[in-house]
Amino acid sequence: MSAAPADPHPRPLVASRGGALHGNVAVPGDKSISHRALIFGALAVGETTITGLLEGQDVLDTARALAALGAHIERGADAVWRVVGRGVGGLSEPAGILDLGNSGTGARLLLGVAAAHPFVSLFTGDASLCRRPMGRVIEPLQRMGAEFTGRTGGRLPLAVAGAGRLLPIEYRLPVASAQVKSAILLAGLNAPGRTIVLETEPTRDHTENLLRHFGAKVSIEPLPQGGHAIALTGEPELAGRPVAVPGDPSSAAFAVVAASIVPGSAVRIGAVGINPRRAGLFETLREMGADITFENERRSGGEPVADLRVRAAALRGVKVPPERAPSMIDEYPILAAAAACADGPTIMSGIGELRLKESDRIRTMAHGLAHCGVAVEETPTSLTIHGRGKSPPGGGLIATDLDHRIAMSFLVLGLATERPVTIDDARMIDTSFPGFVALMQGLGAAIAPRT
Ligand code: S3P
Repeated sequence: MSAAPADPHPRPLVASRGGALHGNVAVPGDKSISHRALIFGALAVGETTITGLLEGQDVLDTARALAALGAHIERGADAVWRVVGRGVGGLSEPAGILDLGNSGTGARLLLGVAAAHPFVSLFTGDASLCRRPMGRVIEPLQRMGAEFTGRTGGRLPLAVAGAGRLLPIEYRLPVASAQVKSAILLAGLNAPGRTIVLETEPTRDHTENLLRHFGAKVSIEPLPQGGHAIALTGEPELAGRPVAVPGDPSSAAFAVVAASIVPGSAVRIGAVGINPRRAGLFETLREMGADITFENERRSGGEPVADLRVRAAALRGVKVPPERAPSMIDEYPILAAAAACADGPTIMSGIGELRLKESDRIRTMAHGLAHCGVAVEETPTSLTIHGRGKSPPGGGLIATDLDHRIAMSFLVLGLATERPVTIDDARMIDTSFPGFVALMQGLGAAIAPRT
C-alpha cells in the first residue's frame, strides 16, 4: 500500500475570522471530466489535446496509471496535455502496480478499463481508498467476464484478470453512482453488442457526453418507472479529440460558501461548470437565501459553463430533498459549513453514501461541527445541523481523516466562526484543489500554518 501523501509530515492549518472576501478568481479544472478526458484519450486512436486539465494528485495518478498501461501522455509547456491513445482494447499489461492514491474515481473507472483487456493488472491506493468498497464495480464486471482476486469485502489491493472481449450486459444500478455507471460503460466499449445501464436516479453524465464526443454511439431513453436507460454500442473506433475542461463546480463551492457566510463579501468565479447533474448545491444555497448569480452562461467543451457572482447573505436552514443528493453528493461537507452559519435547522437526508467517501463524511462532519460548538444530530443516513443565525463558536481542532473536502470545508467555516478553526492536516487538499489556500488568501481569507 502506498503511504498517503508524498510529504510525510501532517500540515495543520488555522482559519480565522477577518475582513470581507473580495476578488475575481478561477478554480482548477473539473476532476470528473479530467479523469475521463485522459481515459478516453488513452482508448482513442490518434491524439487528444486537453486544456484546463486538473493537475491535482488524483488526476495525476490516473495519468500515471494510463501511461503504465501503454498510453503516451505528456504535458506541454503551454499546460496543454497531449494523449496518444492505443484504441479500444489496445492497452498493454502494466509492469508494476497501479497505485490510484486517494482516488475512488480513478480506481473504479480504471477497473472498468482493465476488465476489458486480456491481461492481469494489480490495483492499490492509500489508506482511505483501501477502505472503500469496490464490490459495486467488481460485481457487474464479473458478470461481463472479468475475474478479480482480492481481500475479503472487495477492497483494494485487488488483482484483475481482464478478458479480450467481454459480454455486454444490462445492469440496473443498485446505488446512484456515476463511477459504477462509468466503469460498466468503459468495459462495454470492448464488448460486442449493446451494454445497457439502467439508472433510476440521474447521476453526473460526463461519461455519456464524452463517449459521444469521442465518436461512440450512446442512446439515452426514459424508463417508465423514472430515470433512464443508457445504451452503448460496443467496439466503436474512438477518435482522438480536443477536450476543454471547465472549472470544477465542486471546487468553486468552497469560494461560493465562503463569500456567502463572511459578511460584506463579493466574489466572482469565472468559467465554472454548471451541468444540472452537478449543480444541486447552488440550488440549495439559493433556497437558503444565498445571493448567487450565473453570468455569461455558455457552452464549453460540451458542458454548460457560467461565471458565478456571489455576495454575502443571511442564510436560513432548509430541508434538502434526498432526491437532490446525486447532484451535490460531494458538496455536503461545504453545505454543512453554510448550515452551521444559517438560522434554523438544515436537514440532510438520504445521504448514506457519504459514509463511503474519502472519509465517513457524516461522521467527520458531525464530529468536526460538534468541536466547533455547533449542535448536530446524526443517523445512519442523515445529518441535521442546528444553525443559530449568527457566527458559530468555532475553536475546534478538526480530524480530517485523509479527506480533502472535509479539510477545505472546515477552513471555510473558520473564516466565519468566533474563534479560529484548526484542521489537523491540509496535505490531501492537493488531490482535488491544488492552490486552494493561495486562492482563498488572494480573496482576503486569513488561513495560515498553525504555529
Ligand atoms: C464521481 C462520482 C461520485 C463522486 C466522486 C466523483 C465521478 O462518486 O462522489 O467524487 O467522477 O464519477 P460515486 O459514483 O461513488 O457517487
